[in-house]
Amino acid sequence: MNAENKTENLTKGSQVAAPLDLLASDLANLEVRDTPDEAVLGSIPLPSSLSDDLAETGYSVCGTAAGKTWTSAVREEITSLHAKGLMQKSLNRLATSRAPVADGGSPGHTCEKPGVSELNLIQGGQVVAEEAMAASPVLRSWFHGTNDDCCGGGLTAMLAKLQDGAPWLALTHLDTLKIQFNEGVGGCFPLHRDTQDKTGRKLTAILYLGENWEATHGGELRLLPFPLAPVNVAPRAGQLVLFSSVATLHRVMPAKAAVPRCVVSLWFGSGGLPGGDLETPPTDVSGKLFPWRYPKWIDPDQAEQLAFLRLPKNADMLTKILYAEEMAESIEEAFGKSEGVQAALALHFEEAARTEAAVNKALLELLRETLPLTCPAESYQA
Ligand SMILES: [Fe+2]
Repeated sequence: MNAENKTENLTKGSQVAAPLDLLASDLANLEVRDTPDEAVLGSIPLPSSLSDDLAETGYSVCGTAAGKTWTSAVREEITSLHAKGLMQKSLNRLATSRAPVADGGSPGHTCEKPGVSELNLIQGGQVVAEEAMAASPVLRSWFHGTNDDCCGGGLTAMLAKLQDGAPWLALTHLDTLKIQFNEGVGGCFPLHRDTQDKTGRKLTAILYLGENWEATHGGELRLLPFPLAPVNVAPRAGQLVLFSSVATLHRVMPAKAAVPRCVVSLWFGSGGLPGGDLETPPTDVSGKLFPWRYPKWIDPDQAEQLAFLRLPKNADMLTKILYAEEMAESIEEAFGKSEGVQAALALHFEEAARTEAAVNKALLELLRETLPLTCPAESYQA
C-alpha cells in the first residue's frame, strides 16, 4: 500500500469519529411500510435507493420485504425442519497455523456455534436437500415460481427487481439459499466477509422471520462498512438486508433471550452458474465491479482522498488491524473459549501484528484518530 502519500493528504474533517464502540448507529427504528399480509418475498418493490445505498455504503435495508402470512409460513417450515432433525450444526474451521500439512490444508480446529442450526436448500443454483425441500412447499414454490398464490413474488420476480435496482451488479442467478434456526441464548456468528473465492457470489440477502423481536433479544446483524461507522440492524420479521458478499464485513450479535430465531439467507451471483453457458468470472475482489463512492455527507475532496481505503487489499489489511479486537471478541462469542479457539486467536493476533508492522505508522495513527467516518447527526436518515 502506498501509505506515504496518503498520509499527507488525509486530514481530520467534520466527520471526526468517536471510538468504535460509541459508533454503532442503530437501524432498529427503520420505517416499516404498510405491506399486505400475503405478500411473498420478491413481490414488493425494493428501496429506490438500493443502487445508491450499495455503492455508497455496501449495504441496503428493506424494512419490509414480505408479508406476515408468508413469513409465518416460512418460519413454520423452518421450525418443522429443525424439529424433524433435518438441519445441521453450524461449523467453522478456525486456522491455528498457516504451515501446510500433508493433506494440503493447514492446521486448525473445527468449532461449532452453540444453538445455531442451518441447511443449504439450494447450492450452485440446484436443490441439494431434496427431503427438506419436499417438506417445505412454501419455500419450494418461491424457488420454482410454481405457486399461483405467489402474488407476483418468488425468485424470478426478486432477481428481476435486483437486476433493475442495481444493474451494475450484473446478477444472473441465485447461487445459494440457506435456512437457519437459532435456539437458546448466545448463538451468533463471528466477523467475516461472505465470499473471497470464485463462486461468483456478489450480493447477500438476509430475510428475518423471527416474531416480535425486541432489543432485549439480541441477535442483531452488525455491519462494518469500513471506513464508515458500523450499524446494527434489528432482525425484525419481514425485514431484508442486502449487502456486498465480497466487501461488507459483518457479524451476528449473540442472542440474549431464548427466543427461536428463523432466517433465510440468499446469495445472488453474476456470470452464470458454474458449468452453465456462461463462465463464472473471477471474483470482484479487484474492486472493479463494485463502483464505490462515498455518501454525499462526505466532502467530495475528502472522498477522493479516502478512495484508497476501499481498495480491497487496503481494506483487508486495515480492517484486520483496526477491528482485531472486535474480531477476537466475536470469535469467542461464537465458539466459546476452548483451547482450539485460543490457538486460533493467537494466530489471529499474530497476523494482525504482522500486518500492522507492514503499514505506515503515521497513517495508522491518523486512521485510528479519524475512523470510522460517521454521518453528521443532522443529516442522518436510516
Ligand atoms: Fe455472512
